Amino acid sequence: MRHVLSLFDLSSSEIRRVLEIASDLKQQYAEGIRPASLERQVLGLLFEKPSMRTRVSFETLIRHAGGSSLFLGSDVGWGTREPIQDFIPIMTSYLDCLVIRANRHEDVVAATEYSRCPIINGLTDYCHPCQALADILTIEELLGSLENAKVTYVGDANNVAFSLALACQQLDVPMTIAAPERYQFNDDTLAQLNSVGEGNGLQQTSDLNAAVDGANIIYTDVWTSMGQEAESAQRVADLADYQVNRELMARAAVGARFLHCLPARRGEEVTGEVIDSRASAVIQQAENRLHAQKGLVVWLLTEAGGDP
Ligand code: CP
Ligand code: NVA
Repeated sequence: MRHVLSLFDLSSSEIRRVLEIASDLKQQYAEGIRPASLERQVLGLLFEKPSMRTRVSFETLIRHAGGSSLFLGSDVGWGTREPIQDFIPIMTSYLDCLVIRANRHEDVVAATEYSRCPIINGLTDYCHPCQALADILTIEELLGSLENAKVTYVGDANNVAFSLALACQQLDVPMTIAAPERYQFNDDTLAQLNSVGEGNGLQQTSDLNAAVDGANIIYTDVWTSMGQEAESAQRVADLADYQVNRELMARAAVGARFLHCLPARRGEEVTGEVIDSRASAVIQQAENRLHAQKGLVVWLLTEAGGDP
């Protein structure tokens, strides 16, 4: 049984296949066609943190495909009411697929040991693979192909940055992270990311202007992720020079597009002027969560074979 806890769980060709299914289903959806390829399948959503996009896109996509969903919040008692060796095998014996959004990535890894159905990571402190699939689908749509994409991620090298970097590595898209040194990936994580793919490798720099030079995709995320609220004041102070604003966008390639996984904090990591500008593709990007994850679930439940 296959699980998707990070993009390490998919090979490059499997990522391409998921995106191909996603694009096809997106096209069909636009034509009013919703193939019932997951008829009567039940998708569970076990969420420890708030969500709008991830929850609603998963709940919607399974209905489009003929199935249904169950949202499972804190009242089901994951980690509090009974031990994992009882909780996970029982819950997953009721379901065809389980999406988990968890505070600690290791809890999702532990869940796979007891699971009776495929598990998808809907965001942890470590990574956000579903977001990266939608990001890549969006970049491909915006630029026509990934061939000439040059991605610069500005700000905290967090869970979203990790999955985006791994997707870029797997698909040979050059990517640079611009952040103060202590907000960049550490050497071990960098080595892990750079062990993948045949591209130029992930670059990291604290030189923001150099990082955006020639980039046609400028991406950022919040400086304070869920669970880091106590560090917020420090983070805002440390990252203040790494805001994506009009001046920064003007230093990128002509026609560069802006992406953000959302939710955004206007006035912190990005100005309202940029996120609400014509360069911004954040609404298209968020809509693509639906299509990319539909591609992932359809692939996982109908096509996925053995190891990546
Ligand atoms: N980008 C994203 O995952 O949004 P939600 O937290 O609203 O699900
Ligand atoms: N880095 C953010 C992403 C939210 C979708 C967080 O983890 O809170």
